[in-house]
Amino acid sequence: MCEERQRTARLRPAGLRCEYLVNPLGVGVAEPRLSWTLEAAPGAREQVQSAWQVLVARTPQTLAADRGDLWDSGKVESGQQLHVEYTGKPLKSRMRCYWKVRAWDGDGRASDWSEPATWSMGLLQTRDPSSPEGSAVASWRARWIAGADPALEPGSEHRPATMLRKEFTVEGAVERATLYATGLGLYEVYLNGARVGDAVLAPEYTKYVCRVQYRAFDVTDLVRAGDNAVGALLGDGWHGDRFFSAPPVKKRKFRGRRGFRMRLDVEMSGGRTVTIVTDKTWRATREGPIRHASLYDGEIYDARMEMPGWDRPGFDDRVWPEARAVTFRGTQLVWQPNEPIRVTRELTPEKVTEPEKGVYLFDLGQNMVGWCRLKIRGASAGSEISLQHGERLDDDGKIYTANLRSAKQRDVYTCRGEGEEIFEPHFTYHGFRYIEVRGLPGPPRKDDLTGRVFHSSAPVTGRFECSNGLVNQLMHNALWCQFGNMPSIPTDCPQRDERAGWMGDIQAFSQSAIFNMDMAAFFTKWLADVRDSQADDGRFPAFAPYPDDVNTARGSGAPAWADAGTFIPWRMYQNYADTRLLKQHVEAARRWVDFVHRENPDLVWMNARGGDYSDWLNGDTLKLEGFPSEGSAVPKEVLATAFWHQSTRMVSKMFAVLGNTGEAERYERLADGIRTAFNERFVSPEARIHGDTQAGYALALRFGLLDETRQSRAMEYMLEAIERYHGHASTGIQATHRMMLELTRRGRHDEACRLINLRTVPSWGYTIDMGATTIWERWDGYVAGRGFQDAGMNSFNHWALGSVAEWVWRNIAGLNPDEEHPGWKRFTVVPRPHESFTWARAEYDSIRGRVASDWRVEDGLITLKVTVPPNTAATVCVPTTQSDAVIESGRPARDADGVDFLGAENGAAVFRVGSGEYAFEAQFRSDVQAGGD
Ligand code: BGC
Repeated sequence: MCEERQRTARLRPAGLRCEYLVNPLGVGVAEPRLSWTLEAAPGAREQVQSAWQVLVARTPQTLAADRGDLWDSGKVESGQQLHVEYTGKPLKSRMRCYWKVRAWDGDGRASDWSEPATWSMGLLQTRDPSSPEGSAVASWRARWIAGADPALEPGSEHRPATMLRKEFTVEGAVERATLYATGLGLYEVYLNGARVGDAVLAPEYTKYVCRVQYRAFDVTDLVRAGDNAVGALLGDGWHGDRFFSAPPVKKRKFRGRRGFRMRLDVEMSGGRTVTIVTDKTWRATREGPIRHASLYDGEIYDARMEMPGWDRPGFDDRVWPEARAVTFRGTQLVWQPNEPIRVTRELTPEKVTEPEKGVYLFDLGQNMVGWCRLKIRGASAGSEISLQHGERLDDDGKIYTANLRSAKQRDVYTCRGEGEEIFEPHFTYHGFRYIEVRGLPGPPRKDDLTGRVFHSSAPVTGRFECSNGLVNQLMHNALWCQFGNMPSIPTDCPQRDERAGWMGDIQAFSQSAIFNMDMAAFFTKWLADVRDSQADDGRFPAFAPYPDDVNTARGSGAPAWADAGTFIPWRMYQNYADTRLLKQHVEAARRWVDFVHRENPDLVWMNARGGDYSDWLNGDTLKLEGFPSEGSAVPKEVLATAFWHQSTRMVSKMFAVLGNTGEAERYERLADGIRTAFNERFVSPEARIHGDTQAGYALALRFGLLDETRQSRAMEYMLEAIERYHGHASTGIQATHRMMLELTRRGRHDEACRLINLRTVPSWGYTIDMGATTIWERWDGYVAGRGFQDAGMNSFNHWALGSVAEWVWRNIAGLNPDEEHPGWKRFTVVPRPHESFTWARAEYDSIRGRVASDWRVEDGLITLKVTVPPNTAATVCVPTTQSDAVIESGRPARDADGVDFLGAENGAAVFRVGSGEYAFEAQFRSDVQAGGD
């Protein structure tokens, strides 16, 4: 049909989300925000949304009749497609909402309605300060319950899991059933023999004295007319187990008491609701099969103690004691705003060997995080099978566990001795590629063991592939490292007795993380942990959640670590346009910057640097023959002042976004002052930066600390410093990716490419040649001939040095967000081919839809295909010297629909394009460096 006769818009809303989630249940935000992407008809270009209309209804039927009895926004003339705040009738606890949206295009034509989506409200008003338990009791009507005090088993270090159960009867037909649950410690819920939901390690890790997350589950299919039973397993997890923290606490074996809280609403046909809650009528025992479970150490499971039918009606629980009601003062119950930890992948072993008689070594071929499921046949009752998990093998081919420190990572299963048995743990997790299994009755089949990979199940958003195999492996390693370090908080590592939310690591890795996965909901949750862990004087912690007293927290207020408290909310704004989060967070960010200011009135950060980890794991920490053992570490006050400057700028920008120009200007002046002080104190007239390190120049350049006249000098010195270090990076986790980004941005893409292609230690390539399938903590974690680095700190799954993925995304894929137009409303495509990169294909599912770049250099020609989602626009830089001769889809680019030529810049022809698919073609000149970010 020709355009003029078309009546409906050539775009349609899709991908509906509420508070970043697809059809979430139990939302705890009174005015949830709704977002959608837009899909355009094939071939359509320059599609924009000129207006929208949202309908929210109480029932699917009302919605299907195009009526919004909760909210009909009417037609709103606006291009907004993100974070549209619900402003309909007040939403109450447990309400269900069905919604859809339509859009009008640039010519004022309305689209069809989107597919319907839904959300339900959680249990609101979770806190009443006047009551110790909070009005959560009123809303939940449930108590926290537990079994007998979960003391240690006599004569052992073991603390068995608690089992809880209750039977109830439902008379009549069940219309709908919703279960709300949470635990202190970790829980799993079962209804009539079936597991409720598929989450692992719920309710995840928060600062429990401040908040504990609950979730809502639709259990309509599990409840039935007549007799029912609900059961729960309760373990220790982050709350109860020993956990990495300040030394005195570390010694304490167990931390907190357990508790479980649940409410089940069964809505009957006819309108009656039956509610089952946790209270003293439940029964509890510790005599079940989970004899012990610790996050670090593993699970000990005795299948002989299983109680078949315990979670079904009719089970005889008379010997189970009554449950006790317990109280946790002050703890607020909050909805879980992030995607639950779930099993997302399974790995089958690449091979199984028998290094010793009866000892089997499984190799999954990939360093992973989760646990194993093991099938056992023909074992005798009472025989013990152990699974030891490790990341590497030592030089003798034995499983290497020294780097786990005190974490055992060992599961032990005692067999029932009947037929095929299947073991899978509940309340632990491990970081591993190899599993040494002892005690099997005979040789296993390869597929008797399955690696179950789990992590916060944020969707994967980035797919990248290029002509360079080494870099493909590097990107794979960064993604798998990310899978391994998202157990509801961004951890440093998944294997040793640490696994803490180290802020400096995620601060460095955050943009890479955002390219790889949708981090919006995850960061929303974690930034609450960060605020909960902020000290009264404004210091952000070094790791969050900080489980103990935040005012005496170890390492708090460390440059680059605490600064995650400003960097990550700003990234949330840049990538997801989240201003509500900025509103929630800006005061915390300001308090942090003010703290540093109070302690350092002369604007150089000399005092109160907390843990002061600086450019952690820089060249000075390597144990390598022929490399200098000093001179790589940037002076700590240089790094600190550079970060403080950057945080202050971000606070200023946050205020500007929120419309508070007074405060924006105040912090901008402060940032200008810090910049001046930095130059006066640390930069010589010739632009030598105190310490003369790669890192010092990289940070000063990246954070805009130098005047233009000094920038090129600083670049030269940075290159000299690389040269001095035998052509390698001597930077640590804060400066490495920033050096790469600056090399490319300032015309030395060739040097950045040389570094990424290096195969000698220290380099990414070397780790890959040594078998890395995830990113290593240290450049020299293992060196051929020398062996392992210090086992006291040598993880093979640490994402910080993987922050270079951001460089690959920005420069090889060529995709760059634009903070002037947040949430990928506008972005820049700048691919930078090199002899080591002749093609690349990348897709990124931005919050506004799929962005893609696909380019190839062949026979002196570059082709560049770009996908721009509806309602967005891109600046596309085609690297060519013949900017007049660029072709787009067979026509001169200047004449093409949706394409505006902006000019020739730094050897690239620069175009502005509206939404659509584009295919550019031009003469490629390899000696030209495209400019851009
Ligand atoms: C962690 C790091 C962390 C650091 C603080 C280490 O033990 O594993 O990644 O950032 O401590 O310097």
